[in-house]
Amino acid sequence: MHKEQLIESAKQMLDHAYVPYSKFPVGAALITDEGKVYQGCNIENAAYPVTCCAERTAIFKAVSEGERNFKALAVIANTDRPVPPCGACRQVMSEFFSPEMKVYITSKDLEVKEVTVQELLPFSFTPEDLSSGQTK
Ligand code: THU
Repeated sequence: MHKEQLIESAKQMLDHAYVPYSKFPVGAALITDEGKVYQGCNIENAAYPVTCCAERTAIFKAVSEGERNFKALAVIANTDRPVPPCGACRQVMSEFFSPEMKVYITSKDLEVKEVTVQELLPFSFTPEDLSSGQTK
């Protein structure tokens, strides 16, 4: 699957976004090393902080199905510039994706900015940091 197709897959999810509060739909599509695609949208809640972003919806869908090896993630919103993922999603990306993995972030005019996980969240907190600081 090409980059453009993954972005199109993310775009389809804008219609599924549950965004009664922000009115800001976001779509995501995550492709595994084997070529399977998991789509996600943002899902909001009247208790605002419980909201799940599109990126995390896609990642959690895939991980909950047993997937662990990912090739690329596309994210899209109806924004003027390619939509920057939030900090929480960047941390979740760093847990499951390699530092070199590509993330295609996209605007309403399909302007695409291609970044790596490492570029999105340098110096991230890792499982190795956790184990090195745990009480014996
Ligand atoms: N949101 C995402 O789904 N992904 C992003 O990258 C940025 C923010 C959602 C969360 C909330 O539903 C809405 O956009 C406004 O913050």
